Amino acid sequence: METNILILYYSMFGNTYKMAIEIAEGIREAGGNPILRKVPDLLPDEVVEKNEGIKKGREIQKDVPVATLSDLENKDGYIFGSPTRYGNMCSQLRNFLDQTGYLWAKNEFVGKPVGLFTSSQTIHGGQETTLINMMVNMLHYGMIIVGVPYELKNLQTTKSGGTPYGASHVTFGDTFKELDDDEKTICRYLGKRVTEIAKKLKTGE
Ligand SMILES: Cc1cc2nc3c(=O)[nH]c(=O)nc-3n(C[C@H](O)[C@H](O)[C@H](O)COP(=O)(O)O)c2cc1C
Repeated sequence: METNILILYYSMFGNTYKMAIEIAEGIREAGGNPILRKVPDLLPDEVVEKNEGIKKGREIQKDVPVATLSDLENKDGYIFGSPTRYGNMCSQLRNFLDQTGYLWAKNEFVGKPVGLFTSSQTIHGGQETTLINMMVNMLHYGMIIVGVPYELKNLQTTKSGGTPYGASHVTFGDTFKELDDDEKTICRYLGKRVTEIAKKLKTGE
């Protein structure tokens, strides 16, 4: 019996996408099946055309399917990712989640595990508030929030991303900064942990 975990995210420049790739690896390590989807963009074409960074970000994620609402149904676990926007999730992800009232009404997400991740430019620029703000939606869905416990040593020593509320990445102003080893480990750990908990909840063991 496969454990299907949906990774649903938005990424303008590709940083949140890079995290999603590591999280998918963690899901596989735990024997799960990662399903990667990006939410539809809301940016007008003229904004994209003028910005080489956005074009590059789109190019690296061109093979990821755009999510439809049906992707949210019948999954064993969920991991949602967004860039930090003024300490909150981006409008693209919120817009998508704002279309899910009918899924909420039929208790689609009740009792399902969910993990969260975010990418920000600055280390104290609102990663934690973004993750916590995203949690409010998840609690309305009736989901079981899966964080990152301090048993993972990288959480103690990281000089970049990684929080007990979820995985994170800091670009320090370099739009295309690669994830460092701590950030990668924390992303993989989150993917693994959501999968392991999803398996237990599914089988009741
Ligand atoms: C409108 C807007 C608001 C942002 N707000 C914040 C912020 O509050 N704190 C921060 O550290 N970075 C902020 N950023 C920077 C992004 O979070 C950062 O570039 C992130 O790594 C982008 O991820 P992406 O490449 O997946 O789109 C903001 C960027 C934009 C465009």
